[in-house]
Amino acid sequence: KNIRYVKVADKNEAAGIVLERMREELAGGLEVLGLATGSTMEPIYEAWAGSDLDFSGVTSFNLDEYVGLGADNANSYAWFMNQHLFSKKPFKETNIPDGTADNLAEECEEYEARLRDAGIDLQFLGVGENGHIAFNEPGTPFTSITHVTQLTDSTLGVNSQYFEDRSAIPETALTMGIASILSAKKIILIAFGEKKRHALEQLAKGQETTEFPITALLSHQDVTIITDLDNIQP
Ligand code: GLP
Repeated sequence: KNIRYVKVADKNEAAGIVLERMREELAGGLEVLGLATGSTMEPIYEAWAGSDLDFSGVTSFNLDEYVGLGADNANSYAWFMNQHLFSKKPFKETNIPDGTADNLAEECEEYEARLRDAGIDLQFLGVGENGHIAFNEPGTPFTSITHVTQLTDSTLGVNSQYFEDRSAIPETALTMGIASILSAKKIILIAFGEKKRHALEQLAKGQETTEFPITALLSHQDVTIITDLDNIQP
């Protein structure tokens, strides 16, 4: 129905499939692309960076950013995007919520307005072990738009591996809301490894619950799940 599963053997196969899908989307006139960060996206961006794909006509919107971290901080998502993609492939325009803005509420409001105005053609997503999408933690209303969010202990624990000093991990972030994500015309969610099984199982149950933000995808009309997990398809 609205959710299509693509089972892959490994990350390499996923990167190849996504590369071809991007090629088709670009040929089909894609103009606005929603991007994600996290280890899941690294092989995907590596494949794009080493390809002939042309993003020079594309405007991008990233899902989220830590509060307080600027593009010059190696733990910011702005840094991640520059490192893995933007320094290698020119885009027409890139957008990432500014975690260093003086007025965070205003930054969120402006970001939401910009992404709604542009209209995201295709949004990439990862998923947290607790079922979060972007930084929409369990309990976030499905009607949420771009907002400041408090990260849960689960997320702080998982993400602490990237920070040398655990106390340096921001406990708040700016994130597109669930409604912002659902406004994209198409969505591709990528999940690798057993740590993501629990989250994908919640989706497979077919019941929407704010306890598992990933289940919000059940109400979207065009979702592709790319995963190396067996026996996850409903
Ligand atoms: C982070 C990000 C999410 C990402 C998720 C999965 O918390 N805010 O957007 O999807 O973690 O990360 P990873 O791909 O490293 O497993």
